Amino acid sequence: MDDLCDAARKKNNKKTTTKKKTTKGEFTPFSHRSIVLFIPFLPVKPALPEHCFIHGRWLLLLLLFVGVFGPPPALCQACKNVVVLHLEVVQVCRVPICNNRLDRLRETSKPTTFTGCFVMTDSILEDNVAFYSDGAAYWRGRPATVDAMLGGYGHISGLDVCASRKFLSQFLGEGPGKTGQTRALDCGSGIGRITKRLLLPLFDRVDMVDVTETFLKRAPAYLGAEAQRVDNYYCSGLQDFIPMPGHYDLIWIQWVIGHLTDEHLTEFLKRSCAALRPGGLICIKDNVAQEGVIWDGEDSSVCRSLDLLSRIVEDAGMTILEQKCQDNFPKEIYAVWMIAMR
Ligand SMILES: C[S@@+](CC[C@H](N)C(=O)[O-])C[C@H]1O[C@@H](n2cnc3c(N)ncnc32)[C@H](O)[C@@H]1O
Repeated sequence: MDDLCDAARKKNNKKTTTKKKTTKGEFTPFSHRSIVLFIPFLPVKPALPEHCFIHGRWLLLLLLFVGVFGPPPALCQACKNVVVLHLEVVQVCRVPICNNRLDRLRETSKPTTFTGCFVMTDSILEDNVAFYSDGAAYWRGRPATVDAMLGGYGHISGLDVCASRKFLSQFLGEGPGKTGQTRALDCGSGIGRITKRLLLPLFDRVDMVDVTETFLKRAPAYLGAEAQRVDNYYCSGLQDFIPMPGHYDLIWIQWVIGHLTDEHLTEFLKRSCAALRPGGLICIKDNVAQEGVIWDGEDSSVCRSLDLLSRIVEDAGMTILEQKCQDNFPKEIYAVWMIAMR
């Protein structure tokens, strides 16, 4: 086991990535300069999440600034191009976004809510149908390989699995509060990279769930003889999936939560919690943004800050038991965190 870790670590002294911190998006120059007219009538504070910094006097200061100097430039979180802050009455935003994304928002938003240039996840993802269908289409077009599961950097798989095994092992065993090893669920499993290397060696039986049929069809061949211990290959989006109540000791959710809206992720965590056996555990392992929410137009996903993730876990009525940042991953990719909860 340690050899595997060492080998993976050595191999990864080179700079590699599963997902780089920034992605290139489309950008069209932004010229519209409308000013908010209805601010005094807006229920600004109650309508905003508490961590949204545009409220009260900040909003007035911002308006004053815009009135005098015109909208200031900002960076689009998706494409890193300069955009002009847009102050039109559309909806509450948190992450700077560029014009074409904003146009889509304006088309899909109710005209009576407020827009700054900072978008909460569910505001970015107002158009849920396109968000999910674009994400599914992206993965349908990817080959059923480990390399594709890891965005072209399949060689960090060993390092990833070693760290996960170490993180998970502190919860496993017998006795009060310990997590049993009878049955695990691999969420957003892809072809079963984690099922094969992490879950089947530790659990008697495993189920897999993924939205991409071709990946699940490929799984038995990829898993080899051990596939006989995989009971179910569920082809479903996690936003629709209902894991069997009281069924699993572990629910592992890796590199897939960015494909769910805040609301769907919260609801999925609640359903997952109900699917745990006594002592059961849910683990999320995923990219984490330094701040706020970052949209990736290439695969139609978002990357949330640890703060936002913690809030979602809390909203789902769960408690974080332990969280740890993955060591020795390439510097240029998002930080990857493991979060255990129940
Ligand atoms: C980056 S891959 C990760 C695969 C696997 N978790 C791993 O670490 O090897 C993302 C996976 O999530 C799946 N996926 C994307 N959106 C999904 C959704 N809404 N529900 C379930 N699976 C989804 C894709 O089909 C793909 O297999």
